[in-house]
Amino acid sequence: MKLSVSLRAAAVATVAAAGLFTTGAMVSNASPAPAQAEAPDISVADVKADLDQLQSIAEQNGGNRAHGSAGYKASIDYIKGKLDEAGFKTSLQEFDSGGQTGYNLIADWPGGDEGQTVMAGAHLDSVGEGPGINDNGTGSAGVLQTALAVAKSDFKPTKHLRFAWWGAEELGLVGSSHYVDQLSQDDRSKISGYLNFDMIGSPNPGYFVYDDDPEIQKVFTDYFSGLNVKTEDETEGDGRSDHAAFLEAGIKVGGLFTGASNEMTEQQAQDWGGKAGEPFDKCYHSSCDTTENINEQALDRNSDAIAHAIWKLAS
Ligand code: TRP
Ligand code: CA
Ligand code: ZN
Repeated sequence: MKLSVSLRAAAVATVAAAGLFTTGAMVSNASPAPAQAEAPDISVADVKADLDQLQSIAEQNGGNRAHGSAGYKASIDYIKGKLDEAGFKTSLQEFDSGGQTGYNLIADWPGGDEGQTVMAGAHLDSVGEGPGINDNGTGSAGVLQTALAVAKSDFKPTKHLRFAWWGAEELGLVGSSHYVDQLSQDDRSKISGYLNFDMIGSPNPGYFVYDDDPEIQKVFTDYFSGLNVKTEDETEGDGRSDHAAFLEAGIKVGGLFTGASNEMTEQQAQDWGGKAGEPFDKCYHSSCDTTENINEQALDRNSDAIAHAIWKLAS
């Protein structure tokens, strides 16, 4: 012990004498940085800037971004433009619902093993009653900013990454069901997991994590434990959003949700610092679901959690 310490001291002294010793070099030599292990922090300001754009798209198109409307198509064009600029391979998948053309937007990040594809998605349509900012501008913008963060980073995922924005969710999960239906059994087997984000910035937020797959769930619950934020299992969701078709096709799913029209309990209000007896989202499916109808802290935490899960599950 004593010998090795003095030998090391001698070696350092020699290096220092040779003029090669700098703190920076010493640190990076001692522990080479695992360049891509950690997800970046997603800027909530960038997520909110996307919500501002979706809000003005609604305002310019009769107040909503519903399936079949000009507001929906403008929303798709906005997201697609950003992805194309960042180097994604994008495609629009058309389908018919109620006699009107709907669109899914699929964006692949080149590289990774396509036999193991990690997907994340959000529905981009609103109901006809309003601009759909919490439901589901938030999930759409959180997934978009995560995709753009992948493009900006030096992350070289082992698995292939695919992001999706679904149409006509509000008419009965139409776009996502269409996507899964048209996949061959072989295509389906290549999807190692699908992560869904539908309402992640509710104004009186709960922190719900889909309980469908234990491994995916743990990636999210570990993240929130690290922030000292309690989570609860999202159990009602099986048939309520775009992960349903994936789940039915035997694909592993996970996701996050901050609550819709249900009321927050006394216990939940204590856990999360919210308002007991009030809905998680008092503007759910109504005209007041605007950029005012957002809890910024929930939106920030959940957006960061999306990036964390993508980095973790695709590494
Ligand atoms: N999918 C619903 C909508 O878009 C929202 C919703 C209600 C939900 N309950 C859920 C989403 C549970 C995920 C999980 O209007
Ligand atoms: Ca953040
Ligand atoms: Zn929704």
